Amino acid sequence: MKSITLGATHQVVSAVALGIMRMDALTVDQATTIIDAAVGLGINYVDAADIYGGGQSSTIFGAALKQANVTRDQLHIQSKGGIVPGKRYDFSKSHLINAVDGELSRLGVDYLDTFLLHRPDALMDPSEVAAAFDDLQAAGKVRHFGVSNFNPRQVDLLQAALSQKLIVNQLQFGLMHTGAIDFGFHTNMQDERSISHDDGIIEYSRLHQMTIQAWSPYQYGTFAGVFLDNPKFPKLNAAMQTLAAAKHTTKSAIATAWILRHPAQMQVILGSMNPAHLAENAAGADIELSRQEWYDLYFAAGNDLP
Ligand SMILES: NC(=O)c1ccc[n+]([C@@H]2O[C@H](COP(=O)([O-])OP(=O)(O)OC[C@H]3O[C@@H](n4cnc5c(N)ncnc54)[C@H](OP(=O)(O)O)[C@@H]3O)[C@@H](O)[C@H]2O)c1
Repeated sequence: MKSITLGATHQVVSAVALGIMRMDALTVDQATTIIDAAVGLGINYVDAADIYGGGQSSTIFGAALKQANVTRDQLHIQSKGGIVPGKRYDFSKSHLINAVDGELSRLGVDYLDTFLLHRPDALMDPSEVAAAFDDLQAAGKVRHFGVSNFNPRQVDLLQAALSQKLIVNQLQFGLMHTGAIDFGFHTNMQDERSISHDDGIIEYSRLHQMTIQAWSPYQYGTFAGVFLDNPKFPKLNAAMQTLAAAKHTTKSAIATAWILRHPAQMQVILGSMNPAHLAENAAGADIELSRQEWYDLYFAAGNDLP
C-alpha cells in the first residue's frame, strides 16, 4: 500500500483511507468485516463525522472496532464536527467541544488523532475556535487539527489564530469533480472554466503542507451517483476499462490511481461498505499512471485543453 506523509507531521499513513459515512447501514458484524478488510489491505486511516447517520455510523464503528483484528493505536482515527444538520454550521467553542466528546463516546476511543471542522461557518470567530482547539489538545482528546471544504483565505484566517498547524483539508476531488484543476489550465482566459471557484486550493495546500483528502472519489456532481459503470459516462468508462485491462486491474483502481498520480500527495477517502469493492478501489494505490495516461483520463471525463 502506497503511503503519504500527513500534512506537516512526520506521520506516514496509507494513501487511501476508510470513510465511514455509510456505515450506519451495516450491522456491527458487517462493520467488523469492513474494518478487517480495510486493515488487511494496508489501510490505517479512518474518517468519521459526528453527523454521519446521525451519529450511528460512529456508534457502529466503535462497537465493531472492539471485535476487529486491530488495536486502537494501529489506526489513525479522524472525525469531523461543526455542522448542526438542517440548521446551521456552528464553530462555537461549546459546540466543538461537545462534538468531540460525542464522537469519543460513540467511537469508544480516548482520543481522536485528528479533528476537522466539517464545513466553514460564516460566523466563525477564529479566537473562539483556537480556545476550543487548545482545550481539546490540553485534555488529550485531540492530537491534530484540520478543516474540510475550506478555501485558502478561510484557512489563513483561522490558522492565524491557532497555536496548532492545520494539517488536512478534506475536499471533493476525483475524475468527475475537477474544478480545482480545471481553472488552472484556463488562466487569464475569458471562458467559464477560467473562473477559480476555490482560489487555488490545491496550490495553496501544497505550499502549506496540508494534505488534501479527496472525498467521494467515484461520485459525479455532489452525491448525484457513481460514475463507475454508469451509462451516462461511456467515454470515461471505456478509457478506464482500456487502462484497467492493460494494467491487469479494475476501472475503480484506475480512478483511484488518477487521484494519487497528482503530485500533491493526496489521500483518497474510500466510502464503499462492500469488501470486494473496497479491495478493488484500494488496489489503485499501487497502480502507476504515466503523465499521458493521466491526461487521457482527464479528456475522457469530458475535459479538453485550451
Ligand atoms: N468532508 C465532506 O464534506 C465529505 C462529504 C462526503 C463524504 N466524505 C467522506 O468521504 C467518504 C467517501 O465518500 P463516498 O462514500 O461518497 O465515496 P465513494 O467511494 O465515491 O462512493 C461510495 C458509493 O460508491 C459505491 N462504490 C464504491 N466503489 C464502488 C465500486 N468499485 N463499484 C461499484 N460501486 C462502488 C459504494 O457502494 P458499495 O458500498 O456497494 O461499494 C457507495 O454507494 C465518506 O465516507 C466520508 O468519510 C466527506
